[in-house]
Amino acid sequence: MANKRHSYSYPTRIEYGPGAMKDLTAIVKESGLKKGLIVTDNGIVKVGLADQLKGYFNETGIETVIFSDVKSNPTEENVMDGTQVYKDEKCDFIVGLGGGSPLDTGKTIKVMATHDGPLAKYDDMKGGDKYIKDNMPPFYAIATTAGTGSEVGRSSVITIDKTKTIIFSPFMMPDIAVLDPTITLSLPAKLTAATGIDAFVHNLEAYIMEVFHPMADGMAKEAMEMCVKWLNTAVTKGDDVVARGNMLMASAMGATAFQKGLGLNHAIAHALGALFDIHHGLANAIVLTEVMRYNMTRETTKERYASLGSIFDVENDAVQVIEAIEKWVEELGMNVKLSSLGITEADLEAIEKYAIGDPCYPLNPKVAEKGDVVKILKNTL
Ligand SMILES: [Fe+2]
Repeated sequence: MANKRHSYSYPTRIEYGPGAMKDLTAIVKESGLKKGLIVTDNGIVKVGLADQLKGYFNETGIETVIFSDVKSNPTEENVMDGTQVYKDEKCDFIVGLGGGSPLDTGKTIKVMATHDGPLAKYDDMKGGDKYIKDNMPPFYAIATTAGTGSEVGRSSVITIDKTKTIIFSPFMMPDIAVLDPTITLSLPAKLTAATGIDAFVHNLEAYIMEVFHPMADGMAKEAMEMCVKWLNTAVTKGDDVVARGNMLMASAMGATAFQKGLGLNHAIAHALGALFDIHHGLANAIVLTEVMRYNMTRETTKERYASLGSIFDVENDAVQVIEAIEKWVEELGMNVKLSSLGITEADLEAIEKYAIGDPCYPLNPKVAEKGDVVKILKNTL
């Protein structure tokens, strides 16, 4: 609230625009660094992007090693394997190249390069942030998807023993975030839609969070408008640099805004990711409007939803906004039912149990009670 003390931290250096990825290599060269670990995934390797980056570094005389053993929901094992490569190869900096998974993995390798294990020691829910010191190698984050905004975030989500664990420290903020729309042009339509919805939900959940942060609120509202204006084009016309650029920026804005926190939508999405390996963006899309219907029973949240009317060209009315979002999700082909992914009513309690333990759950403005998540999920079966 406006009469309380807050500590704000707006993010990091951002290099935006076509050619920004290549330009990063010159910036790294100027810093005097010698050998880098490129943390990426097999999909990025397959489309040739990892080799392209390696080639740019080669041109500047900097050696790099590619580590691509990163799952879509990255695990402790992925982090520790990458850390071993970093140490064995005597690297002195790390570049994350990818969507949220490689960027979160890279960020966490940065921690484990100079900190003792086990990784669980740094679990943010258990106060692990206090053990993370500012003695880590430089980390540069190149986003290849417009969704997680991990490139401007100070935390990572890593699965430790089947539990999604948040590792957080202000020192984990990437030294430079690279937003180069030209490297996102080949992202398939489905993935573009799923990651784009993730970006939208970040902004939406940040926007309804009852924390006094008008800077973040303004950013979140603008970014939601950008998502609604540009995501359909990015999906249907993947080579549109302007649409891709707007979505990359909206994604970075979302991750900046969600310093305020994320809520129930993400708590459930994390459960669906951890228990059923459902893509994070898709998981968010599946429950989006049902979570909104649930949340709007809280008056302050309903008012926030209503204030988004102009973005969807409807009245400032929460129900109309939710209906417009439903239609939009359908246009994007993200109106998937949980049953089509093999989930049955018998699974819902386990999903709720997981969601209740998720760090985003207690932050939701409407305080959820036992059984509420099951009810929400039933409507998405
Ligand atoms: Fe997300």
